[in-house]
Amino acid sequence: MDWYDGHARGLPWRVGPADRRAGVRPDPYRVWLSEVMLQQTTVAAVREKFRRFTEIWPDVRSLAAAEDAQVMAEWAGLGYYARARNLLQCARVVANDLGGRFPETREGLLALPGIGPYTAAAIAAIAFDRPETVVDGNVERVVARLFDVDTPLPKAKPELTRLAGLLTPQARPGDHAQAMMDLGATICTPRSPACGICPLMASCAARATGRAADLPRKAEKKPK
Ligand code: ADE
Repeated sequence: MDWYDGHARGLPWRVGPADRRAGVRPDPYRVWLSEVMLQQTTVAAVREKFRRFTEIWPDVRSLAAAEDAQVMAEWAGLGYYARARNLLQCARVVANDLGGRFPETREGLLALPGIGPYTAAAIAAIAFDRPETVVDGNVERVVARLFDVDTPLPKAKPELTRLAGLLTPQARPGDHAQAMMDLGATICTPRSPACGICPLMASCAARATGRAADLPRKAEKKPK
């Protein structure tokens, strides 16, 4: 958390450090929108799209009232149009059936269109401070190295999820989730990880054995 407080990536859907200290909470609409955009698209590509969407539609009610065609047009470049259709459907359910408020639990979020287990956990943790464990590719890599998990992906997934769960704190679980993502994106990178400046270097098992850059292992592709 100390590392995150000093090194978090400044992303448009996050609350900055000063506001965070003042107790400002992230807007669930912005968290939801960012997580849906980030499902299969990079942070770099999402930044501008996110800015544009929230400029045009600053809250879930305005998005729910949007013309389908305009949303589709603005979605261009993010790919997978089914996600944009689900996005609109979800906004309409929240605006029309739930009084404009997103459900605060993983289970409640999972019931909405376009929200799967990963996105539900991410929104519950980041927007509502629920102690959910959020595991994406970055987090899998950080955990595989921290615990020196030798099992190749994808077989290692359940074990990596279990280990990630052991790290999930009761305090600030949303910041913890985003700290793990940022660590994976900026320091614990796939190639040439910057172990020398890593806040977890003292506890990293793979750093100790010199294997960090080799983990997580990937299953050999079967010859055709
Ligand atoms: N990828 C998915 N969700 C993210 C988030 N909240 N911050 C950074 N990268 C992400």
